[in-house]
Amino acid sequence: MLPLCLRKNNAVRLRFFFITHVPATAWPLHSKPRFSHDTREKKPRPSRGWNGYGQTYKAPSHSDLAFNHIMPTHDSLATKPLGDMPPEEFRRYGHQLVDWIADFLTHIDEHPVSSAIKPDELRAQLPKAPPQTGEPMHEILADVDRLIMPAMTHWNHPEFFAYFVSSGSGPGILAEMLSATLNPNAMLWKSCPAATELEQVTLDWLREMMGLPKDFWGIMYDTASISIMHALAAAREQLADLQLREHGMAGRKDLPRLRVYASEHAHSSIDKAALILGIGKTGVRKIAVDERFRMRPEALQRALNEDRAAGWRPVCVVATVGTTSMTSIDPVAAIAKICERENVWLHVDAAYGGSAAIVPSCAGCSKAASLPTLSSSIRTNGCSCRWI
Ligand SMILES: Cc1ncc(COP(=O)(O)O)c(C=O)c1O
Repeated sequence: MLPLCLRKNNAVRLRFFFITHVPATAWPLHSKPRFSHDTREKKPRPSRGWNGYGQTYKAPSHSDLAFNHIMPTHDSLATKPLGDMPPEEFRRYGHQLVDWIADFLTHIDEHPVSSAIKPDELRAQLPKAPPQTGEPMHEILADVDRLIMPAMTHWNHPEFFAYFVSSGSGPGILAEMLSATLNPNAMLWKSCPAATELEQVTLDWLREMMGLPKDFWGIMYDTASISIMHALAAAREQLADLQLREHGMAGRKDLPRLRVYASEHAHSSIDKAALILGIGKTGVRKIAVDERFRMRPEALQRALNEDRAAGWRPVCVVATVGTTSMTSIDPVAAIAKICERENVWLHVDAAYGGSAAIVPSCAGCSKAASLPTLSSSIRTNGCSCRWI
């Protein structure tokens, strides 16, 4: 399931310094998907397949639905004290919504890439106070067309060339529906064996595909920023003599100043993690880059020497595989050698470019991953994987 979700992000991600602006007025209103209550004129269009996946969308019949037999088909749910939507109503709006999504994905290129609304224009149209009563579903869906759609930046659009390529996919959307339905709480094996085991298996597949060492253990996070913060926390805890787990850092005069090292082009999540973890802004030393925006190993070595002499305690070096600004790749093998010699934790922030290691000719960085104190992360939008 996970490789399917990652599929689009693994393509080469183009990066430009501007968002393509296409005036909203250039796009005919009738080309946008609408919920059936909408009275604007609809023109039939031939289907052009599922968002480029080469399959023609066909609304499933009830008998096609694999889970039909476990869905209650009478009104018993409606009488339950939880007061949730009656199942038949859910089915009706669910089908309507899936049709809307399929239309949206089929004709996404007919939407403007960027929203044409002005700041606060949407806010001005929303109620000032929380509504006292619920609204009927058809009104909520109408608001999606009327209020939400004009305020969207379409990351899935084929002409969206900013930031990251969209990682959304048909199977991923369906998986999210299923996941919202099952509503798993996956904090322990017992609380959701399926999620726990699926996570471990897919992370093992990915680890193997990227050529990371066999003994690496993986975990999934929501974002790479959280992943990096946890990597730095783990690196900090490795400094066992400081007993940070037991005694923390606050008010301790016996602690040396801690430092993290990353290139000038490293992602801001490293600075944010340092702020949260009590390492502080001055605790992040930025290392100069070469003419191709890659961390200079000799500058890293110099920084470590200077800092040790001045009483700093190195916690972690973060090498980036695919910097956010330039997509440059730090020389991981040379940096790993320094970390091994200096006994400093190495985290490889491969959030942006790491998944390319699945291609055998790009596996160079993961081959350097033989250090015992190494962690590595990759991400798609809303999902980050970290191995340690
Ligand atoms: C290299 C790199 N590291 C970390 C991050 C942070 O990722 P997230 O937005 O998932 O927290 C990004 C995001 O752009 C990135 O490009």
